[in-house]
Amino acid sequence: MKLFLPAQTILLPSPVLIIGTYGSDGRPNIMNASWGGIASSKPPCISVSLREATLTYHNIKQAGAFTVNIPSEKYFKEADFVGMVSGRDCDKFKQTGLTPEKSKLVNAPIVKEFPYSLECNLVRQIDLGPLNAIWSGRLILACIQCSLEKLSEWSLIARF
Ligand SMILES: Cc1cc2nc3c(=O)[nH]c(=O)nc-3n(C[C@H](O)[C@H](O)[C@H](O)COP(=O)(O)O)c2cc1C
Repeated sequence: MKLFLPAQTILLPSPVLIIGTYGSDGRPNIMNASWGGIASSKPPCISVSLREATLTYHNIKQAGAFTVNIPSEKYFKEADFVGMVSGRDCDKFKQTGLTPEKSKLVNAPIVKEFPYSLECNLVRQIDLGPLNAIWSGRLILACIQCSLEKLSEWSLIARF
């Protein structure tokens, strides 16, 4: 038996992508975005779909860059929190105790405590009606916390 449902945004499992940006005042911000993933391999691009109501939407537009940060399991509460409140209303780094760190190559912060961050430069904004846009970013650098034992495994993956 198959169940047929009206159109709605069901695509599971959904990733937990923490998007890091700077505001026009240089203030770092993070938000949770599940509507995103790999957009292309050559060039390597990531896309995220953001509502116009988010501060992150406007930060990316203005700064031309964003980071995608993947939290480890122990930060699930912080990851949830940054998806529930807007950076317009509070400093989410202060509230969570997470640390913003300047990324190496793009104009957006990474989350120091998270093991995996991707630095992206904006390549295209695709509007989806008045409320949403897809932001496609070219992956410039991947920053991965890695033990010496795991280094060889990552080097293998990096060849592909
Ligand atoms: C698990 C989860 C996933 C979310 N995914 C998205 C998303 O993909 N796109 C979006 O626009 N908002 C998404 N949100 C809502 C934003 O994270 C939320 O509106 C946030 O407050 C925006 O922060 P900002 O205003 O500081 O940018 C998600 C929230 C949660 C908790």
